Amino acid sequence: MRQPHEPVIPRAAEAAAAAGARAAAASADPGAARAAVGNRLDPWLAAYAERTRSMTTSEIRALFSVANRPEVVSLAGGMPYLPALPLEVIGGIAQRLVAERGAVALQYGSGQGEEVLREQIVQVMTAQGIHASPEDVVVTTGSQQALDLVARVFLDPGDVVVAEAPSYVGALNVFRSYQADVVHVAMDAEGLQPQALEETLTALAAAGRRAKFLYTVPNHHNPAGVTLSAARRPQVLEVARRHGVLVLEDDPYALLGFDGDPLPALRSLDADGVVHLGSFSKTFAPGFRVGWAVAPHAVREKLVMAAEASVLCPTSFGQLAIAEYLSTYDWRGQVKVFRELYRERRDATLQALATHLPEARWTHPEGGFYVWVTLPEGLDATAMLPRAVTARVAYVPGTAFYADDSGRRHLRLSYCFPTPERIVEGVRRLAGVVQSELETQAMFGPVLGGSAHVHGGSADAPGPELA
Ligand SMILES: Cc1ncc(COP(=O)(O)O)c(C=O)c1O
Repeated sequence: MRQPHEPVIPRAAEAAAAAGARAAAASADPGAARAAVGNRLDPWLAAYAERTRSMTTSEIRALFSVANRPEVVSLAGGMPYLPALPLEVIGGIAQRLVAERGAVALQYGSGQGEEVLREQIVQVMTAQGIHASPEDVVVTTGSQQALDLVARVFLDPGDVVVAEAPSYVGALNVFRSYQADVVHVAMDAEGLQPQALEETLTALAAAGRRAKFLYTVPNHHNPAGVTLSAARRPQVLEVARRHGVLVLEDDPYALLGFDGDPLPALRSLDADGVVHLGSFSKTFAPGFRVGWAVAPHAVREKLVMAAEASVLCPTSFGQLAIAEYLSTYDWRGQVKVFRELYRERRDATLQALATHLPEARWTHPEGGFYVWVTLPEGLDATAMLPRAVTARVAYVPGTAFYADDSGRRHLRLSYCFPTPERIVEGVRRLAGVVQSELETQAMFGPVLGGSAHVHGGSADAPGPELA
């Protein structure tokens, strides 16, 4: 057993921590002095950068280790349904790539990405009306890395990012890690509200603050399941342009619409004011970790430098495998297979909600993976989650998608992975949990006071309330 006089921290850390403690004490801040010496669980506590303060493990993550058990219907994760891929074909591509071109495929490559793939990416984007040159494209380690690179290039601590309410949790984590302040803007069934954006940017300007960029997921939104209407696209761009705000268009779901062709990308309407992000994760396979950014020339140069500092180059093997898949397989036919599969699962989800959970409201996704559910007044999806997992169903509570802990009345259901039968069973279980919450509420009053926090929109707005 450790004696009271033995060091709690290793020697190198002890010296550093002691120096830190002295410096902190000299600054006459007793709190800083305490923090500087670390603690028994983590001797390096004092050494961490300020930005790590927002990097905490959530209770939600802990619950998900349980949610991954087979007896739990997980409507939580956004994992594409990979058993539908032609795995043998992909295996053949990988095998040939290593056997015939291994010396290139397994070597370092260009920081901007392989030219052959950048040319194909340009072709892929024409479906959304984007006309770019391969020179404008930076290949990244998933679009998640592109988010990180854009944040790294544009954000100083305390800068403002304007983002939809709710917003993709992975993007919020990136913005937080660069110590930015996220200001949410209301959405409705037609996506981001241009009027709310105008009001937010005007209010920020009046407070002497300028947003560095607007972060938006215009198609089949994660988590809201809505699409920015064609009519609103030029309006959003006009507001952003007038306020001098760059638009970051995060668009991994564009080709997964269930009806008709994708709408024109924001980038297709304003090549100078938009950084557009795409990904092969949802239309092909996330395991290759290949995404991309298309940016105005000067921004693109900065992104490449930031990418080289971060990973030297994206995966050569992954890029060349995807390039081979795109040129030798009917990848558009495969995307259609995915669309039909997800459409059936979306239908099962909406039907099950109508049958089992009529007290709630939800969005009607026309593509993608997600439905956003609004629980009856007074219920709290975060507080309810442990009871849902006990009832063997998992979802992501709405609070994960807000920078300010609002969204308690909401939850996200993902229909991409479970079969339609499992989805129906999961929604039935969820409805049982909601019923018992409502009974508790009828007996003892609201479970946790809160109705949803509304940002720049009205709680009476037509269509599903997403704020
Ligand atoms: C809106 C959005 N952006 C970015 C990503 C990251 O995707 P990847 O890094 O796999 O391309 C996701 C993944 O779920 C997403 O939903």
